[in-house]
This record gives sequence, C-alpha cells and structure tokens, in this order.
Amino acid sequence: MNILVTGGAGFIGSHVVRKLVTSYPEYHIYNIDALTYAGNLENLSDIEGAQNYTFLKADITDIATINRLFTTYKFDKVVHLAAESHVDRSIEEPLAFIKTNILGTMNLLNACKSIWQDDKKHLFYHISTDEVYGSLGNDGLFTENTSYSPNSPYAASKASSDHFVRAYGETYGVPYIISNCSNNYGPNHFPEKLIPLFINNIIEKKPLPVYGDGNYTRDWLYVIDHAYAIDTILHKGVIGETYNIGGFNEWKNIDLVKLLCTIMDDKLSRKRGTSESLIEYVKDRPGHDKRYAIDSSKINKELGWKPSVTFEEGLMLTIDWYLANTTWLKNVTSGDYQAYYTKMYQS
Ligand code: NAD
Ligand code: TYD
Repeated sequence: MNILVTGGAGFIGSHVVRKLVTSYPEYHIYNIDALTYAGNLENLSDIEGAQNYTFLKADITDIATINRLFTTYKFDKVVHLAAESHVDRSIEEPLAFIKTNILGTMNLLNACKSIWQDDKKHLFYHISTDEVYGSLGNDGLFTENTSYSPNSPYAASKASSDHFVRAYGETYGVPYIISNCSNNYGPNHFPEKLIPLFINNIIEKKPLPVYGDGNYTRDWLYVIDHAYAIDTILHKGVIGETYNIGGFNEWKNIDLVKLLCTIMDDKLSRKRGTSESLIEYVKDRPGHDKRYAIDSSKINKELGWKPSVTFEEGLMLTIDWYLANTTWLKNVTSGDYQAYYTKMYQS
C-alpha cells in the first residue's frame, strides 16, 4: 500500500511518518512537504534512509506538480497534515492560510477524485483541529456534533477545508475521515506556539509573553499520542466519520506557564522563581478563544485509543528533548525566525 502523508516534515507530521514507516514495513510511505519555515527534514533524520520511505519536496498549492505526483506514485491513501498552523500568523497574513489550507486541500481532493476508481481501498484522511468549533464557556466539551464556529482565520481555513473534504465525500464519493484534535505539545515543535516558545525563551532568559490575563484554557495532548491516534483511525476508523482527539487535560495558560517555569528552573539548576520572573502580561490576541476542551470518548469507545502518558510525563519528556536538542533549536531559530520574533513579541 502506498500512503501519502502531507506535511510530514512538520511537528505532528514527522511523528506520524515515523510511526507509519517503523510499524508498517509492508507499506511505502511518501512524504510531500514544501519545507516552509515550519518544515524541517532534521525531524526525520533517524528514518530518512528507510527502504519504505520517500520524501518528495512539493507545494500542495502547485496543481500541476500534485497531479503529476499522484499519477506517478498512485497513492492508495492520503493522510493530510500540510497546513499553515499558527493562529498568530493567520491574524497577520490570512491569505497564506486560504492558499495552503483551503486551495491546497482542494488540489489534493481533486487529484484523489480524478485518480481513484475503486473507492473501497482508498481513504482521504484530513487531520484537523478542535479550533473549528470556536470557543467554550466555563463548562462543556466539544463533541463530534458541536457546530462549527471558527473565530480565527486559521480556524476558519481549517473549518473550510473540513467542509470541502466532507463535500467531496458526499458529492463525488471520495472516501474520507476527519479527526479534530486539541493542542499538541512535544518534541520537534516549532518555537512559536506557547510551550516550545516558552521553553526556548526560558533557556535564553527572554521574556515570556502571556496574552491578556493568562486565564485562557487549552486541552493539551502529547504529540506521539496524537500520532498513535492517527494510526488507529487510519486502520480502524469508519469512512465518513469524524473523531475528536484529546487528552481530557485542561490547563489555564498561566498555570501551565508557572508549572513549566518551576520544572525548567529545576532542570537548569536555577533558583526557583527565576523563570517566573520572565513572565510579561502583554496585549491580548484579537479574537482569542477562551476555552477549548475535547470529549474524546468516541475514539476511546469505538476504536480503543487513549493517551499513553500523563501531562506531567509528557511535559518532562518534552523539556528533556529540548534540553538535549539545542542544535535543533539553534537551527530553527536562526535566520527569519529572529525577524519574526522581533515583529511579534518586541514591537
Ligand atoms: P506545522 O506547522 O508544524 O507543520 C506543517 C507542515 O506542513 C510543515 O512541514 C510545512 O513545511 C508543511 N507545509 C506548509 N505549507 C505547505 C504547502 N503549501 N505544501 C506542502 N507542505 C506545506 O504544523 P503541525 O502543528 O504539525 O500541524 C499539522 C496539522 O495538524 C495541521 O493540519 C494542523 O492544522 C493540524 N493540527 C495541529 C494541532 C497542533 O496543536 N499543532 C492540533 C490539531 C490539529
Ligand atoms: P498557541 O500555542 O498559539 O495555540 P492555539 O492558539 O492554537 O491554541 O497558544 C496556546 C495558548 O497560549 C493560547 O491561549 C494563546 C496563548 N499564548 C500566549 O499567551 N503567549 C504566546 O506567546 C503564545 C504563542 C500563545
């Protein structure tokens, strides 16, 4: 079986590619990635020589190239992760999100529609986010039946691509599954999202910009648990279904940041309180969603998936990874990153 993973050089995609390449030697895994600022082949250096793995540098918005690759490699299934993924960037530059997340997804769907004949063996699996559901109040959880109500340009672009995936299933019979996952954290996370940005800033003794009052809630899942959930859905998921993925692990940003500061002080042999003193409350993100929390009982009951690590274990693994991989951090924070950082956080 030829499986295409898009965005496989990114944070979650690299863990998905590694899982599929190492667990299924009988499959051939193709990774299409444009290697944007968020894509990094260093994330896959341990498996780059595997017999059942091929990297194809391509942009999913390039229709001609995508059609050529589908014709050449005859992908049986597609696990689609390639996307612009950072909310703050979507506020600055929404068009880039429309291009990759909506038009790029359309190109893949059109290629599948025109090439796949025997529907039974095919699958278009879209990796999406809980942010499509909008924001929760103090109570309740997002279920698979929650209405879409995206608030950020990022969330709107993912909601739109989810709708197109579903529409291609209903209209043209493209077999699809969608999963909507909560916030991921773990190794190889580009240091622009909350946890890796703050780990990097603590190491460098730079300010920790907490948006608004810090009383925003996110539901955090270790990235390898997400990769395992994706593997489970790829093999056991039912065509046409949607699955929510999350860890029942809600944290207010400020509580999470304070925990991170304490662990980092201990790991770096700094006096407790050193990292916390770096916290700066800054102007809030416009349209900032108050709370995300996922009800993942469907995937648990129907497919038997559940997270394998607690948040405390996952956070330790993550921090240890960053402290052991300072060259990776240095590489991804050189060049354009400094300009971005200056624009976003120091203006
Ligand atoms: P990421 O930004 O780390 O990686 C995205 C990858 O896509 C990069 O390797 C990048 O080079 C590639 N890419 C971007 N534009 C491309 C294009 N036009 N053509 C080909 N490749 C392109 O993102 P991530 O955090 O790993 O997220 C992966 C997917 O999972 C996204 O679809 C995202 O919406 C979804 N998701 C993320 C989270 C999260 O917490 N990070 C949670 C739920 C769902
Ligand atoms: P982020 O990691 O960007 O993920 P998302 O916006 O997709 O949930 O942000 C997580 C939370 O942390 C969110 O409430 C915004 C907040 N945040 C900060 O307070 N400061 C920061 O520098 C960043 C990047 C995020």
